[in-house]
Amino acid sequence: MDSIIVTGNGPLNGQIPIAGAKNACLTLMPATLLSEEPLTLTNAPRLSDIRTMSTLLQSLGAEVAQMQGGQVLALSSHDLVSHKAEYDIVRKMRASILVLGPLLARAGHAVVSLPGGCAIGARPVDLHLKALEAMGAELELRDGYVHARAPSGLRGGVVEFPFVSVGATENALMAATLARGTTVLKNAAREPEIVDLAQCLRRMGARIEGEGTSTITIEGVDRLGGATHAVVADRIELGTYMLAPAICGGEVECLGGRIALVEAFCERLDAAGIRVEETAAGLKVTRGNGRVRAVDVVTEPFPGFPTDLQAQMMALLATADGVSVLEERIFENRFMHAPELMRMGAKIDVQGGTATVTGVERLRGAPVMATDLRASVSLILAGLAAEGETTVSRVYHLDRGYEHVEDKLSAVGARIERITGQ
Ligand code: UD1
Repeated sequence: MDSIIVTGNGPLNGQIPIAGAKNACLTLMPATLLSEEPLTLTNAPRLSDIRTMSTLLQSLGAEVAQMQGGQVLALSSHDLVSHKAEYDIVRKMRASILVLGPLLARAGHAVVSLPGGCAIGARPVDLHLKALEAMGAELELRDGYVHARAPSGLRGGVVEFPFVSVGATENALMAATLARGTTVLKNAAREPEIVDLAQCLRRMGARIEGEGTSTITIEGVDRLGGATHAVVADRIELGTYMLAPAICGGEVECLGGRIALVEAFCERLDAAGIRVEETAAGLKVTRGNGRVRAVDVVTEPFPGFPTDLQAQMMALLATADGVSVLEERIFENRFMHAPELMRMGAKIDVQGGTATVTGVERLRGAPVMATDLRASVSLILAGLAAEGETTVSRVYHLDRGYEHVEDKLSAVGARIERITGQ
């Protein structure tokens, strides 16, 4: 297992290119299952989660070709050979459940293992299943698998989500494109990744209105065609790299970033005393002299502060002037980075879904362990600002969601290196 060694060394300056969004790509790829014609995705990120989704789609009979070093994915699902998403692949990544809606809509039946993924709470899939049931699917849970059938096809229906779920909205949206009649998704997720998916599906011939609002209306069509679509920029990677100069000082321009993707996050950065400016090429982040100010953070569905930036924000607030309260409202058990940050000298008190962070002048380097994807990068950010050396072990989590993290950070002056096989 690889480790990453980070040595704190002061201000960062330069540019960091932001990749296409992992979470958008992971829902755009299964959309290939809806059509016999090719789907080409450009601006795809090069990540292990994307490779896992490729393997899963290939096991179903899809062809997945990587071009331009993986930045272009050519997908084709002309002939499906299987309707079963096996546990061995699904357990590696929760987003595998996103093949369920498209498979069922296209083939009338699907068998999908219940997912695994990051250990950040129970993360059930009941909302995905209820949405498909509202469209006429017959479901059975047996041997750890969801067995889904819609012998005479899915039909439109009204799906009212009791709370916002990104994945359940995506599954329902994809399934509804081929359902008979009109489907209305109420209390739908509004994330940019949903908007990106709807835009891609529309290019394939789907009839969708209202994406980006909490009511999405889909008029089912008989078949979808092919399309070429560019994956939206990764707002979580963007926010993560925006925090690098915020933590270390300096000025970094994140290429491809836009305020609209990270507005609530930028508002919190502003309150903490970090300047963010939209440029022609992206977002420029500047930290002046002196400590950042403590700010409170509440994670919420988009357009609120994203849960996927909570750990990284905690790394910033660990050295802020004052006491910050972070409330995690999306996932229980998403403070596993807190004890690791405390090993570096952070003062954090976790009570249920709330973490109280009392800023210290300086963190100290320490050996720490990555526990999930976003936690791992928060430890790297903390290490950039700490005195001495920080070794982050178990970085395979990191590789699921961040491409070339060492290259991107060293290009702006960070001292960071990967040690292979430790
Ligand atoms: C997606 C993102 C993930 C992000 C999360 C919230 C992908 C691949 N992953 O995950 O990075 O952290 O959105 O922004 O896009 N829930 C249920 N039942 C369900 C579904 C969800 O109870 O059927 C709960 C979850 O446990 C969680 C909340 O709903 O507490 C929100 O989860 P959801 O929005 O579905 O997250 P994901 O789509 O899994």
